[in-house]
Amino acid sequence: MNIILLGPPGAGKGTQAHRMVEHHGMRQLSTGDMLRAAVKAQTPVGQKAKAVMDRGELVSDDIVSELIDAELTALAPETGVIFDGYPRTQAQAEQLDGLLAKHGRCLTRVIELGVDEDALVERITGRFSCAECGTLYHDMANPPKTDGVCDQCGSTEFKRRPDDNEETVRTRMQEYRAKTQPILPHYEAQDLVARVDGMASIEDVSHAIDALLT
Ligand code: AP5
Ligand code: MG
Repeated sequence: MNIILLGPPGAGKGTQAHRMVEHHGMRQLSTGDMLRAAVKAQTPVGQKAKAVMDRGELVSDDIVSELIDAELTALAPETGVIFDGYPRTQAQAEQLDGLLAKHGRCLTRVIELGVDEDALVERITGRFSCAECGTLYHDMANPPKTDGVCDQCGSTEFKRRPDDNEETVRTRMQEYRAKTQPILPHYEAQDLVARVDGMASIEDVSHAIDALLT
């Protein structure tokens, strides 16, 4: 299976991708996570991307498509992939078509998480993750079972993203509306798009996605 998860910032792409990794043994390819790792490691890509990400704008198409190409090259062909936050522009959608052909893969589904934008700001500003294993939490909606301790790995270190402030979130949403939503017809033409209510509970969204994959 090769799935694209589409949705604005805070729609739950990362949360659901983590669950699909657990339930279906798939591999999450998040260009946001890859770019944040590059920023942290101060690689040339990270140095270029940092200011763009801090503003909430999109990094260049070639940079992200090269990151995806490298990941697909390293991956066993039978391992299913969840594309989380990629593609985000028409050019990236076309580059992905080329990469899928190059790596002998076909898209199974494009799942769009539909959400109410006003609720997203609250979701994003309440988000934090485990510094050790990356498990995502939310101050109100999804806190760790034991306060201050990661459910998955027991770590007590957590972190918040520098672009998770209201001003940057608004720019990220505008970018989504202007550049990412317009790629949907590319996949509608192939009858691949399914919409899931991303405002439902995390469990219910996960069940709705599972139903699409069986
Ligand atoms: P990226 O990391 O992809 O961020 P994003 O698209 O803005 O999306 P988020 O990660 O913020 O949200 P999400 O949908 O994953 O939500 P989550 O599951 O965390 O990109 C960051 C930046 O990198 C971009 O701005 C750009 O600069 C650059 N970039 C990345 N990819 C690029 C590309 N392809 N091209 C160019 N530039 C690129 O959930 C959010 C919170 O809500 C969590 O706290 C979670 O616990 C909670 N939550 C989740 N689901 C629910 C629910 N159903 N109910 C209640 N709470 C929920
Ligand atoms: Mg994410």
